[in-house]
Amino acid sequence: MTICKTAAEMRAHRRTRRQGGRLGFVPTMGALHAGHLSLVRAAREQCDSVAVSIFVNPAQFAPHEDLDQYPRSLERDRELLEKEGVDLLFVPSTEEMYPPGSSTWVQVEGLSDKLCGQSRPGHFRGVTTVVAKLFHIVQPDCAFFGQKDAAQLAIIRRMVRDLHMPVEIVACPIVREADGLAMSSRNTYLDLEQRRAAPALYRSLVRVQKDFGGGERNAARLIGAGKGTISAEPSVRLDYFEIVDPQTLDPLTEVDRPALAAVAAFVGTTRLIDNLALPG
Ligand code: PAJ
Repeated sequence: MTICKTAAEMRAHRRTRRQGGRLGFVPTMGALHAGHLSLVRAAREQCDSVAVSIFVNPAQFAPHEDLDQYPRSLERDRELLEKEGVDLLFVPSTEEMYPPGSSTWVQVEGLSDKLCGQSRPGHFRGVTTVVAKLFHIVQPDCAFFGQKDAAQLAIIRRMVRDLHMPVEIVACPIVREADGLAMSSRNTYLDLEQRRAAPALYRSLVRVQKDFGGGERNAARLIGAGKGTISAEPSVRLDYFEIVDPQTLDPLTEVDRPALAAVAAFVGTTRLIDNLALPG
């Protein structure tokens, strides 16, 4: 596995391997778990070579958020990626990604204020800026993103379309723990009691799915049932519960087409998210 730390190294490597077939790319913030590795495997299957980036992107964290505590395990991550047969690992420094005086931002207007964008202002501007930079540096043919971050996926798809980026975006299903909790690097923050309570997010979505399966199409009633499941777990504090159009992220009143039930909640100080598709 070749490790590149600068954009220049990465470009030089890409120039020598131009003929190497389709390059698949998996951008991450590291602290890798089975969810990340599922993206790497999908890239392996669909592409001729695979690049992964590990960069904890300061621009997508608000000042009061967990940038400093965010788990970092580069040596372990490197071993995992080596075992997965990854060809290229890009691990830039903050100065490399944001040279002093950086003042250029990529923002998908509208969509960036929906779902997590409401409770994390500026978050998606940070995500789209760094993903645009990474796409320019890595120059992949396709890039793999988890459905776990459904809003991120919709926003990146829109950015790629609007800016004519020659990158195919591939969505991969959510990987879960045995009790349904969606895997996340942030799950490591949970103590035993919080870990026990955390699957309430998934249970609330399953409840919505069950009511939907029973014929309920009224979004407010479906959301009410989901919120009820969350409030039954006192150590979980709801941030939002919404049923939205998966492309526009706009709330639906009637679930008369494919939709996404999405939840965000705090378990202690840890903010977790999850979502489930409703077939419509
Ligand atoms: P990170 O949270 O490290 O996630 C990297 C990728 O892994 C994202 O596409 C995310 O959706 C996917 N992922 C995380 N947990 C998953 C799970 N349980 N199942 C399936 N996929 C999962 O998302 C980011 O980093 C950053 O915002 C990034 C895109 C790298 C930009 O900084």
